Amino acid sequence: MQRISENPQNISSKIEMIQLSDEGKKSCDCRKKQNTEDKVVKFRCDFLSTQVKVMLARGWTQIVDPEDASWHLWWCDTGDMLRQALDGDRRKLSPHQRVPHFRNHYELTRKNYLYRNLKRYRKALMRAGKTAEARISDVMPVTFELPSDYRLFVEEYHKQQGATWIVKPVASSRGKGIFLFRKLKDLVEWKSKEVKLQQPGIPIETYVVQRYIDNPYLVAGRKFDLRIYVLVTSFHPLKVWLAREGFARLCGQLFDLENIDDNRVHLTNTAIQLKASQNADGIPSVKGENGERNCKWALSKLRDYLIAYYEAEVVENLMQRIAGVIMASLLAVQPAMMQDRNCFELYGYDILLSDDLRPWLLEINASPALTGTDNEDQRLKSDLVDDVLNVLDFEGRFSGHETRIGGLDLLWDDGPVWTSCPYPGICTDAVSNDLKRLNIFLGGINDRQKQLALLRSQLIEKRKTGQNYSPTVQYCLKKI
Ligand SMILES: Nc1ncnc2c1ncn2[C@@H]1O[C@H](COP(=O)(O)OP(=O)(O)O)[C@@H](O)[C@H]1O
Ligand SMILES: [Mg+2]
Repeated sequence: MQRISENPQNISSKIEMIQLSDEGKKSCDCRKKQNTEDKVVKFRCDFLSTQVKVMLARGWTQIVDPEDASWHLWWCDTGDMLRQALDGDRRKLSPHQRVPHFRNHYELTRKNYLYRNLKRYRKALMRAGKTAEARISDVMPVTFELPSDYRLFVEEYHKQQGATWIVKPVASSRGKGIFLFRKLKDLVEWKSKEVKLQQPGIPIETYVVQRYIDNPYLVAGRKFDLRIYVLVTSFHPLKVWLAREGFARLCGQLFDLENIDDNRVHLTNTAIQLKASQNADGIPSVKGENGERNCKWALSKLRDYLIAYYEAEVVENLMQRIAGVIMASLLAVQPAMMQDRNCFELYGYDILLSDDLRPWLLEINASPALTGTDNEDQRLKSDLVDDVLNVLDFEGRFSGHETRIGGLDLLWDDGPVWTSCPYPGICTDAVSNDLKRLNIFLGGINDRQKQLALLRSQLIEKRKTGQNYSPTVQYCLKKI
């Protein structure tokens, strides 16, 4: 199914996002239209977090009694808590209850499974003669699983003489346990150390060894990668929202391929960069107005930076390509994902740009950090969580047909969602109806408060008059 989003030039067309032409969709929205606006929305979250703050700020009630199963949303971590939330008291969750992870999210979020799924997907595309799609889906650097693929890796290693490789634990984060190497003997030494440290009865840790992208795009001589937020509300059918806001994470040190042992030069993780900028007492050594934001740039700032060097068209194409990388990964895992209408997931994508402006997918996080490292970062994350909750719409405020809700744009709704604006992110005046671009606004203007207010007032107006609505939808709206 294909959908065309609003033309973002025009305020009234912005809120024409309430598209009500698809009869089939309308009826299923009746369930959604249970009005909870005047009712209490209850949530459970057992750790201090931005999510708790945002939910309380929305006026929701926090459940603290673990026996109380009357929650609408249980914001839990992956692992035991997720199993408990999904299967806890062996009763089926009600349709209105949601948890923030899919049961087998690891198909996407473990580095080895992600690569495997992408490889399988590409092969299937090739078999079907879709070579162009297969090429577009070549989004991850060549990866091998260790220890199982060791021999295959050695073959590849000999083919790519002089290449740099990176070793990463499959299910870790924050740059932990990562190192770079060029000589096979370094990997062999590391492997024998691992074997010595191996404790009886504990399964051997799985790693990936991946081709290191040694020609990263640099900003002022420093390497960076992008953190982009993606919300999936359903895998079957696939429904995907892309956050306008995200950031680039910059290394504090100049990029240097001669120095592969210094993680501060090669790993852009905020945890590594912040640690590198602290002195022995844990106090930031970089002072000054922008000191603490030195290692993070808003996507909008990066976009402006790139536009100063390239045509707007080139930058827009890059953003479209990033959306393509995201969709390739989601379509690749879609057959493996266990659909559950009670689940949604907010993913943190790590994307690196090489110096030819090609986006590379490094990994996908199921629990991206939602705690801000400074005021601006906290603002971004609070707004993001707030918009995720707006899309989930426990309060029944929206129609379910929007293509933009606050800072989130609908990218995929069982098929691509298009916009006719040539440069969606920067909103020029020219609009061509022939031109189709994915409905994404990465690094674009995020006037979310204004957009939410307009969306809401338009919907209230429409609900009052029942204008243009079919009897099915009018029936739903009366119930709101
Ligand atoms: N193949 C690669 N090429 C270049 N840099 C990489 C590559 N893989 C990882 N990195 C760098 O290392 C960082 C951490 O890697 P990542 O796969 O995201 O693991 P983690 O789960 O520890 O965050 C990335 O943010 C990036 O800066
Ligand atoms: Mg990462």
